[in-house]
Amino acid sequence: MSPFLLTRTLPEDATDADLRADVLHGLTCTPKVLPPKWFYDARGSELFDEITLLPEYYPTRAEREILIARAPEIAAATHARTLVELGSGSSDKTRHLLDALSGLHSYVPVDVSESALSAAAASLLDERPGLSVHALIADFTRGLALPGTPGPRLVAFLGGTLGNLLPDERAVFLKSVRSLLAPGDALLLGTDLVKDEATLVAAYDDAQGVTAAFNKNVLSVIDRELDADFDPDDFDHVAVWNRENEWIEMRLRARSALTVKVRELDLVVSFEAGEEIRTEVSAKFRRDGVRAELAEAGMELRQWWTDGEERFALSLSVAV
Ligand code: SAH
Ligand code: AVI
Repeated sequence: MSPFLLTRTLPEDATDADLRADVLHGLTCTPKVLPPKWFYDARGSELFDEITLLPEYYPTRAEREILIARAPEIAAATHARTLVELGSGSSDKTRHLLDALSGLHSYVPVDVSESALSAAAASLLDERPGLSVHALIADFTRGLALPGTPGPRLVAFLGGTLGNLLPDERAVFLKSVRSLLAPGDALLLGTDLVKDEATLVAAYDDAQGVTAAFNKNVLSVIDRELDADFDPDDFDHVAVWNRENEWIEMRLRARSALTVKVRELDLVVSFEAGEEIRTEVSAKFRRDGVRAELAEAGMELRQWWTDGEERFALSLSVAV
């Protein structure tokens, strides 16, 4: 049996308190807003995995293409003995890195989704009996206490999840990532790139309605966890390209005027017909912007790789 540890740095009650605070704030402010991390209960994590297989959702395929092509270079440049992955989800694409990192001792997947982490860790342990897996249930925006596994450390943040943070949040987050890097460590960052609006909107509003179900899943999470009475059918899924901020916004739009009770919060929320909740931003990047945000956080971009169609980028950076 290979070594396996699952550590919860997020106590159940802290998750609960966070959700309560986010829902109370987000549904009483104007415009209404919910943070995207609440999509990912077991059902939301499954729906995300379905999204990655959709013909319209190119980021996963594009990033996988880059990983397959560049994993040997990443391994040669980093000699990583510990791979930390933030927002690891199914860890599916990570396998390309694990294959290439020949001296790897430990894999540390970090995610808020316990179901995704356990499933990923179970299959990895099956496939790679020599690998030590230390899975962390944690919110990566909350400052991480990483296990004392051997360096050099490669911190991977794949999938474009950086884009799900707002610019101010990104700045704080990147500084916290910088603080995890010792000399010789590196950050491998996946960022989706700015492209034509039609491609972007289709990726977030697919024909089969999987992204709509993913978006509406946050309402089911609030219903279950906070005893609310949202009916997901009362809302339409909306995906729009915000040209000024260069991000996709996912929203849920009330089909008619309605009220929702959130019993655990003693809260009644009113919606006008057509009123929206912003549930996610997914920022798209340009090379200079990524370089500048990394520099602002004390990191230097050393490598920038894209897929053949220049839809997505992987970058490798070090602390300075
Ligand atoms: N890296 C994978 C999964 C991306 S989906 C890929 O590239 O396909 C985003 C993942 O980040 C989900 O598994 C979600 O549970 C996790 N996540 C989102 N917000 C988080 C947070 N604040 N802290 C930790 N994990 C988070
Ligand atoms: C996890 N994250 C990078 C995805 C994205 O593309 O912003 C989440 C997602 N939202 C809708 N589809 C996928």
